[in-house]
Amino acid sequence: MKQYPDTPDFTGINAPIGEEYSLKNLEVEGEIPAEVRGAFYRAVPDPAFPPMFEDDTALSGDGMLSRLYFGPDGQVDFDIRFVETARHQAEVAAGKALFGRYRNPFTDDPSVDGVDRTVANTTPVWHGGRLLMTKEDGRAYEMNPHTLETLGSYDFGGVLKSETMTAHVRIDPATKEMFFFGYEADGLASSKVAYCIADREGTLTHEQWFDVPYCSMMHDFVITENYAVFPVYPTTADLERLKAGGDHWVHHMDLESWVGIMPRYGDVSEMRWFRGPKGVSTYHMMNCFEDEEGRVHMDHCMSNCNAFPFIQRASGLNVPPQELGGGLIRWTMDMTGSDDNLTQVTLGPPGDMPRIADKDQGRPYQRGWYLSVNPELKGPPLMGGVVGAEFNLLLRIEPDNGRIDAYAFPPLSGIHEPVHVPSARDGHEGWLISFVDMMQGEDDLYQGAWIFDAGNVAAGPVAKITIPHRLRPQVHGWWVPQAELDKSVRK
Ligand SMILES: [Fe+2]
Repeated sequence: MKQYPDTPDFTGINAPIGEEYSLKNLEVEGEIPAEVRGAFYRAVPDPAFPPMFEDDTALSGDGMLSRLYFGPDGQVDFDIRFVETARHQAEVAAGKALFGRYRNPFTDDPSVDGVDRTVANTTPVWHGGRLLMTKEDGRAYEMNPHTLETLGSYDFGGVLKSETMTAHVRIDPATKEMFFFGYEADGLASSKVAYCIADREGTLTHEQWFDVPYCSMMHDFVITENYAVFPVYPTTADLERLKAGGDHWVHHMDLESWVGIMPRYGDVSEMRWFRGPKGVSTYHMMNCFEDEEGRVHMDHCMSNCNAFPFIQRASGLNVPPQELGGGLIRWTMDMTGSDDNLTQVTLGPPGDMPRIADKDQGRPYQRGWYLSVNPELKGPPLMGGVVGAEFNLLLRIEPDNGRIDAYAFPPLSGIHEPVHVPSARDGHEGWLISFVDMMQGEDDLYQGAWIFDAGNVAAGPVAKITIPHRLRPQVHGWWVPQAELDKSVRK
């Protein structure tokens, strides 16, 4: 195509920008808490060239790494740069798109046969003093956290065998180990999953492979103090469909979901599979933990169908966001018995982009945060993002008792996934930082980053940072405190 398609994935707030830029000493309203010092990294898809196919998705966009940096003196700076993936470099050299449909290499220009297709556009991950940009269809790219320069594809020093690495890792707060996995580990539509552990220095110490019941889009997983937990939902890939030029993912409403659980330092042969409901879909888990009775509780943002419009189209489904149902759901698996069924309760309303304090990872927890849609909004939401409409409600939930506090955005506004900044103060829940979009007039778009007191989101932001340059919607973010940045292996 010579121009970007006139579709929701490429227009409005999703209109491509494709510009690398730096902004210094941003305007701040309110007071930035003294504990907010460090870098908020964000992954932003932004296609450098019009796609080969008009029905392409925003998820295909080239990865850009953006950083909102809170300096020691309270100055706030913003930078954004492309991830120089092999794919991006090949397309820049050609001056046009060469890679075809979403995760289907059989639709690529023959000149890029065998070139790494990943766009590294999903999550910036910080571990062992390194910054990685990840997307689940390939290996990560290592980035320089200071200059945002791309250092190259990352395979843990030649040790990683899996061809893929998830964009959702889990870091144990006590051991600082990074637990992760890669699905389609040995190629397209494969049922092989690699389960990996890197020690606190970032050295890959474990990699084992196992088979899932079917090749599934395994976007996230969870750990507890003793287990690794692998949810499998019925959005599936098929090699013959890919070879015929079709879609990577089709969602099946008549197929069961599963949860595989194994001792986190055990052997994959110890995996136990629990049977979940048919047709459901989850992208993100909030947390998982064990209780004293030997049960595993997994809290996840589940919907009753896959939320992505392009996957629904490929599946012959048409369920708009407001009819997806589901909620923040707890699935409980009893590890003491032999029953392969799980039980389900609802903790909170539908939503996504859950966040917990890092210290609560894999442990019983008293609070979490996620995004939802305000049911009382007197006006339209802001269209855009990867599922069509932005979230406009920031929720704080106490999962033990269901108590919810919320901050609601006005019509034609949206909020993106927050990062959590811990507080050293006794009893203080820390801070949340989120990027927000607000239409203030027909053509007047305000964009900025807002800081909330995590224990009192309903009170509204304590500080607002204006970004005087248009931003494309992010996928995920990661907070790196200054003390961690100072220990970076890259200078
Ligand atoms: Fe995600």
